Amino acid sequence: MGQDAPYRILDKLPPQREKVETLEILRETNKATAALAELKGIANTIPNQSMLVNAIVLQEAKGSSEIENIITTQDELYKALTINKSNISPETKEVVNYRKAIFRGFDLIKKQGFLRVNDIIEIQHELIGNNAGIRSMPGTVLKNDTTGEVVYTPPQDKKEILDLLSNFIEYFNQDQNEISPLINLAVLHHQFESIHPFYDGNGRTGRILNILYLILNDLIDIPILYLSSYIIENKPDYYSLLNQTNEIGEWEEWILFMLKALETTSIQTIEKINKIRNLLDKTIEKVQIDAPKIYKKELVELLFEQPYSKIEFVVNQLKVERKAASRYLKELEKIGILESQKVGRETLYINKKLIEILKK
Ligand SMILES: Nc1ncnc2c1ncn2[C@@H]1O[C@H](COP(=O)(O)OP(=O)(O)OP(=O)(O)O)[C@@H](O)[C@H]1O
Ligand SMILES: [Mg+2]
Repeated sequence: MGQDAPYRILDKLPPQREKVETLEILRETNKATAALAELKGIANTIPNQSMLVNAIVLQEAKGSSEIENIITTQDELYKALTINKSNISPETKEVVNYRKAIFRGFDLIKKQGFLRVNDIIEIQHELIGNNAGIRSMPGTVLKNDTTGEVVYTPPQDKKEILDLLSNFIEYFNQDQNEISPLINLAVLHHQFESIHPFYDGNGRTGRILNILYLILNDLIDIPILYLSSYIIENKPDYYSLLNQTNEIGEWEEWILFMLKALETTSIQTIEKINKIRNLLDKTIEKVQIDAPKIYKKELVELLFEQPYSKIEFVVNQLKVERKAASRYLKELEKIGILESQKVGRETLYINKKLIEILKK
């Protein structure tokens, strides 16, 4: 686009059908749909759903925030969630907030069966923590990180932004839509980023909306797709395709990119879930054989729900005394299932093998 990327009025949804349903798009849609269906099925075979959700949501939170160059380590994150520490880094705090925001959105979708513009504002607020809300001052432009050149100018006028958002949310909630929800997801994400309704957090809010849209359309039941991993690995394409679609008004490459992201991350998440399930089975077996006296299903499941565990968690989950809880954890460390680490006055017990699976 030209040097100053003048503002071009954004088209409202729906998109032109023939532009978003090319032969190649339809072919890719089938592949992505199949992968997602398999993911949904496999997720349902995990006995304790919160085990998965906790772990994978945290991974998505970490990944999506990394796109914004908010980097934190897995270790710091889990420690922040496990101990009430006052000195957690701002980066870690942002990731913890991202997780809260996904859960908030998930609750809203489950409760209401739709989303309102105000809910999007609430999700962004949970994420960013200030009360700025929808942009009301002009001046927001998207620049190329390295050259500083303005590549895209979103709508500047608050009334126009609100008008586009209400069109966006109407399309988001529509259940009588003939276009595949996966194609719509790509279209919606592009539209949301192009409206760019906030001063900050547009990318992350938009990526949360992607997951919520899948849940709304029954493509997954719980927020377990780790879509941001693909976006991180293909960040230059993500940015340039978002931009190109606006410039030339052609959807195909962008939609294909998002479909590939959905397919690839579904497959990766399936593998991850299979590995978690294997580890769970092996862990149960090992405790039954090596420490039969302390074996309880809930105890093992806790180690998967809380990969960084502590005495208090065991006390709460199993309704046992501190002394017993401490003995269980020490025993599990002795047979090689947990590794302990002292952090201040607290001893954390880490399910290292699970952490390894989650990391990749
Ligand atoms: N040319 C473009 N057209 C439309 N949207 C774009 C374009 N380039 C980038 N974006 C979107 O804007 C987001 C960045 O906006 P913003 O900084 O408000 O969000 P964020 O959540 O803070 O950042 P990030 O997405 O990097 O985590 C990108 O993630 C991308 O989704
Ligand atoms: Mg930002």
